[in-house]
Amino acid sequence: MSGSEKRTNRLPEGKGDRRKGNDRRGVAAGRAAAGAGERRSGSDRRDEASWQPVSIEIGPSASDTDLVLVAAATDARSRAQAHYSHFKVGAALETADGQVISGCNIENATYGLTLCAERVALVKALSDGHSIFTRIAVVADTEAPTPPCGPCRQLLWEYCGDIDIILGNLNGPTGRLRLSALLPMPFDRRLLD
Ligand code: THU
Repeated sequence: MSGSEKRTNRLPEGKGDRRKGNDRRGVAAGRAAAGAGERRSGSDRRDEASWQPVSIEIGPSASDTDLVLVAAATDARSRAQAHYSHFKVGAALETADGQVISGCNIENATYGLTLCAERVALVKALSDGHSIFTRIAVVADTEAPTPPCGPCRQLLWEYCGDIDIILGNLNGPTGRLRLSALLPMPFDRRLLD
């Protein structure tokens, strides 16, 4: 990769929220799920829910920096090791100082050892010494936005707090939401005190 290509992976400084994961967690109010104990199966409940409660902005509201982040996630996706699911995902995590750390999903013949793109990006960033994050982009080749899975939501909450999540496909950004919308009643270290 040339120097100029590398520079396109850096976002302008001064963009985004630079609070630590811990500070961001304090802001989001957890809300217990309403509803009395119904006896329908998981499958019935999923069909009915259709993920409607999560508000996602779709369309041209994406900023230039969102586009850069989605482009980095799309590039990382091309290196996905998805030999079993054939479902390639790329992620790009933005640090407070404007660096972009990307990841792709890495599968394995035992299946259960699969690493999601988001987690790969996160562990790369943490092991390189980054500790404050502003946004993450997640890209898959799907018409509907592909959100982070449950374990990734938990880990992103732990280390990034209530960051913005930009979802996209091969045509660009398709949605944006806050992590707290995907993980409304989190378990975190505050509950261990
Ligand atoms: N996957 C991700 O990498 N991130 C997501 O947000 C959803 C799922 C991966 C895991 C597995 O390799 C494949 O997609 C199918 O689940």
